Amino acid sequence: MDSSIFPKSFAWGAATAAYQVEGGWDADGKGLNVWDTFTHQGGDRVFKNQTGDVACGSYTLWEEDLKCIKQLGLTHYRFSLSWSRLLPDGTTGFINQKGIDYYNKMIDTLLENNVIPIVTLYHFDMPQALEDQGGWQSEKTAGVFEEYAEFCFKTFGDRVKMWITINEPYVVAKYGYEDGLFAPGKKEQGIGAYQAAHNMIKAHAKAWHNYNMFFRNQQKGLVSIALDSDWAEPFDPNSTTDKEATERYLSFHLHWFAKPIFIDGDYPEIMKSEIFKKSKHQGLQLSRLPEFTNEEKVKIKGTADFFCLNYYTTRKIRPRKTTHDEPSYSSDMAAEGIKDPNWPISSIEWLAVVPWGIRKLLKYIKDTFANPIIYITENGFAQSNPASLEDTQRWTYFQETLLEILKAIKLDRVSVKGYLVWSLLDNFEWISGYSARFGLFHVDFHRIDLPRTPYISAIEYSKVVKRNGLTKPMECFGSPHNS
Ligand code: NOJ
Repeated sequence: MDSSIFPKSFAWGAATAAYQVEGGWDADGKGLNVWDTFTHQGGDRVFKNQTGDVACGSYTLWEEDLKCIKQLGLTHYRFSLSWSRLLPDGTTGFINQKGIDYYNKMIDTLLENNVIPIVTLYHFDMPQALEDQGGWQSEKTAGVFEEYAEFCFKTFGDRVKMWITINEPYVVAKYGYEDGLFAPGKKEQGIGAYQAAHNMIKAHAKAWHNYNMFFRNQQKGLVSIALDSDWAEPFDPNSTTDKEATERYLSFHLHWFAKPIFIDGDYPEIMKSEIFKKSKHQGLQLSRLPEFTNEEKVKIKGTADFFCLNYYTTRKIRPRKTTHDEPSYSSDMAAEGIKDPNWPISSIEWLAVVPWGIRKLLKYIKDTFANPIIYITENGFAQSNPASLEDTQRWTYFQETLLEILKAIKLDRVSVKGYLVWSLLDNFEWISGYSARFGLFHVDFHRIDLPRTPYISAIEYSKVVKRNGLTKPMECFGSPHNS
């Protein structure tokens, strides 16, 4: 048996998100979203005050993206729908036909080319009109999201069979409503993120049930949510406090969403007890962490048909010393993640390159969440700008990561069914603007026609896709004992 070959029908893909690639921010009736507002406000919150107004121009250059997808030979392409392009004020009160036409064209041409679309409903770009009414901090948004999801299932579900409701709810909650670093820029420490997460979990569950009840029989698709997680391990493997801090770190990030959705409809016990304890210490009667009713717990549990993992990096964890006087997510978690100085750093400071972390995380997910089917819906490495097309080192990281995934599949028996690179194209990397290049294809943002050119990684990745396996003979591993 050739150990460098992936299982039959393995999904090979790449991913993008609407705001990061489309541009056309006010084209053809699109409504404003929170990233339009956030970037237009300036104030140096984004690198050089850059915006996604034009980005890769994918709204008008879709055929160019399709060429890239075909050149790679991908079996799957993951992209997101711009909520406010379809529903300018976020509700079905007004539907923008031009938006429907654009996504129909994408979906149809993908299918004509035998590429399966994986469609994310919401990738950080909340319609501004809804944000003005509280955004994810308002419970009402969960209901409006269900309406939007239903509209998408109805409109595109005859052809789209893999849905992702929300991308990285952790990032939205923590950076959008706790630190204020991402749109909508709210800094309500110790409260905002918990409220936002609470309503996103409810929104996701509502969308899943809507699909389950009204569409699944006919459309026969699957619905999930994309969760990001670092791999985390104790700074000192022999230290009890480091081990406890690691448990908190994973509870306050991965389990915050995965436990309610995959296990029992409720938050991790550690989160509940720590936040309650600290809330009391801060003179509050009730915990700052909202509670799900029993009825809600029943509705939330089991609302993902597969596990979507976005993996980028790893941390070593030890306790963070805080006074707990001021409410904040970090003091609630009381753990800090450290990068080992031996790990190479990609061009983005948080992204230490740790390929072996993915294998450990995959095994952990298998053991903790009842052996789900897993798609790695994002993984990637940033280059700085300007980036060399000869990104041989980046390709080495990709190969090392793929090797670790193979080990997870073959040695640890994890059910990994697909791998999607972040990203198809260099694009607008949120607060890093265009300074970080994650693409398999280089985009020349100085030219009006925004030409796409393959990096070495794209050429090499296409060979892996074609072979359904690693191309460089890697004396990977022979027997299950040899890792
Ligand atoms: C995860 C996000 O989903 C994506 O939008 C972002 O660009 C990548 N991480 C890289 O930071």
